[in-house]
Amino acid sequence: MLFRKEKPNMQYGIITIKSVGSNSGSLSFVEGLKDIPFEIKRIYYITQVKAGIRRGSHAHKTLQQLLFCPYGKIRIDLNDGKEKHAILLDRPNRGLLLNPGLWREMLWLEDNSVLCVAASDYYDEDDYIRDYQAFLKYIKEQGK
Ligand code: TYD
Repeated sequence: MLFRKEKPNMQYGIITIKSVGSNSGSLSFVEGLKDIPFEIKRIYYITQVKAGIRRGSHAHKTLQQLLFCPYGKIRIDLNDGKEKHAILLDRPNRGLLLNPGLWREMLWLEDNSVLCVAASDYYDEDDYIRDYQAFLKYIKEQGK
């Protein structure tokens, strides 16, 4: 197990990202291997998305990720092939840790919400499973 499971059969966790607030705003921070269980090798973020847009529809074979939404509101729909859970990212200090093997869809609930991701590895298209039937087959094989 790479980090505490939030639900018995789901490989994700929710963390409260450390934040320092003052009259001049709020500063949030995450340190690899301290606040999250992996070293951060890549950061990417998604901007300029209209409400109602869905992205994602894929799973990863090995990648660990921390998702957070510093601005706006985004729903993350997770599916491990058996159970489905929806996680709302609606505040800057809420982080969603994802283990590999989770099919995810992201639904933008407000215009221009920003999705940030800290990832455990470099971009590798071979780590993606982009076909849902292939995902179900992969999960079944992993369970054997
Ligand atoms: P993808 O991970 O499929 O994003 P989403 O699920 O939000 O649609 O990536 C979209 C495109 O961006 C895809 O062609 C791969 C490319 N990409 C990179 O080149 N490097 C990266 O680090 C990421 C995350 C994506």
